[in-house]
Amino acid sequence: MCGIILYLGARPVLQVLVEALHHLEYRGYDSAGIGFISQDQSSAIIKTVGTVDNLEAEVNRQAHNYETPEKKPVFGVGHTRWPTSGAATQLNAQPLFSNDRQWMAVLNGIVENKDELVSELTSKGYHFESENDAEVIPVLMEHFYKQENDTLTAFVQMLSKLQGAYAVAVLHATEQVVYCARLGSPMCIGVADGERFVSSDPVSFRKWTDQVIHLEDREIALITSTSHQLYRIRHNYPSVDPLSPARPSAMQGRTIHIPMDLADVEKGSYAHFMLKEIYQQPKCIGQTFVGKIANLDAIHIDIPNPMRQLVFVACGTSHHASMVGRYLVEQHAQIQVIPEYASEFIYRTCLLGPSDLVIAVSQSGETADTREALHTAIRAGAKTAGIVNVVGSQIARMAGQGMYLHAGPEIGVASTKAFTCQVTAMILLAAFLSKDPAFRADVIRTLPMVPPAMDQLLHNGHMHATIDRIVDAFKGATNALYLGRGMDYPVALEGALKLKEISYIHAEGYPAGEMKHGPIALVDTHMPVFFVLSRDAVLFPKVLINMEEVRTRGGRIITITDVADPLPTAVERVSEFLIRVPYIAPYTSPLLKVIPLQLISYRIAVAKGLNPDRPRNLAKSVTVE
Ligand code: F6R
Repeated sequence: MCGIILYLGARPVLQVLVEALHHLEYRGYDSAGIGFISQDQSSAIIKTVGTVDNLEAEVNRQAHNYETPEKKPVFGVGHTRWPTSGAATQLNAQPLFSNDRQWMAVLNGIVENKDELVSELTSKGYHFESENDAEVIPVLMEHFYKQENDTLTAFVQMLSKLQGAYAVAVLHATEQVVYCARLGSPMCIGVADGERFVSSDPVSFRKWTDQVIHLEDREIALITSTSHQLYRIRHNYPSVDPLSPARPSAMQGRTIHIPMDLADVEKGSYAHFMLKEIYQQPKCIGQTFVGKIANLDAIHIDIPNPMRQLVFVACGTSHHASMVGRYLVEQHAQIQVIPEYASEFIYRTCLLGPSDLVIAVSQSGETADTREALHTAIRAGAKTAGIVNVVGSQIARMAGQGMYLHAGPEIGVASTKAFTCQVTAMILLAAFLSKDPAFRADVIRTLPMVPPAMDQLLHNGHMHATIDRIVDAFKGATNALYLGRGMDYPVALEGALKLKEISYIHAEGYPAGEMKHGPIALVDTHMPVFFVLSRDAVLFPKVLINMEEVRTRGGRIITITDVADPLPTAVERVSEFLIRVPYIAPYTSPLLKVIPLQLISYRIAVAKGLNPDRPRNLAKSVTVE
């Protein structure tokens, strides 16, 4: 959940690092730092608390110190931090030095045995300046380098000591070497003529190159500006002989081209990435279904035959999309579906086998819980697939088959376009698995109708005026309830998640029918209660009863609905605020109903003076369990 960038090449090192860090800020924004080696082999680190803007100001303030030919930085590393161990202070920010100031290191991930390593190294005479678990890395490098007198061996020795999941990079000032490796956390190398980048995400160096190599677990890269040498650590090392490790064997590189539109990683005229991504949704969902609705068999998922059950493993918003998927696949393909929280699934007794299909759903493709759940499924012998946005990401590679969302980079920390693209993928999956030609034909007919309807809704002045009034009424609220039944229930959950994560208002999503079993006790004259109301003939009257129950207790109802005209007067009577969204088909309704909920959360956050792109305590990719 931290972001790492290394640069080796002829461009101005400090500027490249700072610019790349801006693109990595979604991974953490509590503190940031850069470290670099100058022409005269001296090294320096500049760190600040807060966002990359603060770091940039400090780098600019100090830049004159590094303008002479001897002091010119020749390579360096940048880091933006989401803390796992040690508070967000300047001292705990990264990069971090070894005691002799020769090694510097950055870490994305966690060193689980930090305490043990700190006491081992302290007993050998080393000291620690920070509380950051990452500091053991440069200190271990110093220790093993003194012992082995060989940088590669020292790096392998250091890695053998780490327990946890990580992406790590180290630089040595006088040897002028850079090594990096990963276990669980993402890391890739950008390759251009006479320059190399290493990063947690190719988005950070996209401006300079689109040639990318993804490092795999237990691989090491030795990087210079003109070369990258990859190694694989042997499996029996280090447990067999940690003091004289076998030299890793050299491997071939494998460069892939990652196409990306640069405009996708800029805010453009929008105030925030979140707003931009909300408005991109009509285009993005089109990108998800284009090519597939023309030919549903173009979806390449090898399924067990017969299939016992389909299990989705996912977290957060991706889990909500999986819940929508459950309703769709069960109804239209008659396959039992279990949407699982990945973090719970990993530690449950896993009743899976070759006749089960497990689909990992993830925007980033790197969420640690989802990755581990996928591992569990692979180990159990289940067939696996992925519904993933980031092309070439670890979960996509592990799953081996599935669907890409093609939503483009999602930079806003609160997921918006990934959700609607995931729901679109779920509709396609249900059609792919369905044996009902009428449903398949209906999907092919209706999906193309969604982007224009969504676009119309996003530009609907009446909806925006209602949202203005909702924001005025509830920006001071401390609690909110979101209720819905059937597919409206995951939409309610998603609405509540959006509100709590960016506006810090406590919000709960609940199945509307469950309200009377507990949450109704919370309803009073201050409580905003969002109802997601379906036109479904069976569910509509049931939810209307729940709305009456809330209204009777003074709750303030905001209704989001696609109910047909004429709107029953009872709905108008109980709703203090009412937003109507277009109706296309029952299964497309989450795509449209979620739009006002996203906008309301965004607008409330902004009205409260909060930055929706940088919610406190959160990071975009959660790469630790
Ligand atoms: C919510 C949000 C998170 C993610 C979750 C899974 O707005 O962004 O809840 O949905 O961390 O992330 P991915 O989909 O990248 O696996």
